[in-house]
Amino acid sequence: MLRDRIDILRGDITRLQVDAIVNAANSALCGGGGVDGAIHRAAGPGLLQECRTLGRCETGYAKATKAYNLPAQWVFHAVGPVWRGGDANEDALLASCYQECFRLAQQYAVTSMAFPAISCGVYRFPLARACQIAMREVAAGLQYNPQVEQVIFACFDGQVEDATRKAYAEIVGSDESS
Ligand code: APR
Repeated sequence: MLRDRIDILRGDITRLQVDAIVNAANSALCGGGGVDGAIHRAAGPGLLQECRTLGRCETGYAKATKAYNLPAQWVFHAVGPVWRGGDANEDALLASCYQECFRLAQQYAVTSMAFPAISCGVYRFPLARACQIAMREVAAGLQYNPQVEQVIFACFDGQVEDATRKAYAEIVGSDESS
């Protein structure tokens, strides 16, 4: 059942003991604020060193590193779009971030993965819209990747949690087959 494989948790993604946590990174993969800063602080300097070997990562793509001092095994650095009003392919670029993480999950034999609300902070993507895209892509990703047993939406605050739960009810909760 799809429902049994999706969890919505309030809290700090860096604390989660899953195979992979997803970072909301920038194209330079050089760290930053928000969840990116929290992940780099908790992982330690090895993470930045490895990121420097990867070069750039374009918007809508993701690259993997080890997780160093984090309890996770891997960090998938996904670069979400900056919100520019909706006519700059933002929806498809955000969807692509989630698809890329499922591609990496397959490549790294990941069975559990946690996502932050990519693009919903500094990049200003409208929250409800982003959560719907995230939920739709995670539902599809789980359907096509049976080896992924669990996806966690790590919600840093109540607003993100509410929007994520609403998207879950609309997209997963209403599907009788899930
Ligand atoms: N765990 C989970 N979620 C977190 C954490 C955390 N420790 N810290 C912040 N968040 C949440 C924010 O509240 C927001 O909902 O992550 C979401 C994404 O916000 P940002 O981190 O600002 O990411 P984004 O909007 O994609 O902007 C990316 O910000 O820090 C820079 O280097 C990063 O330039 C890049 C840009």
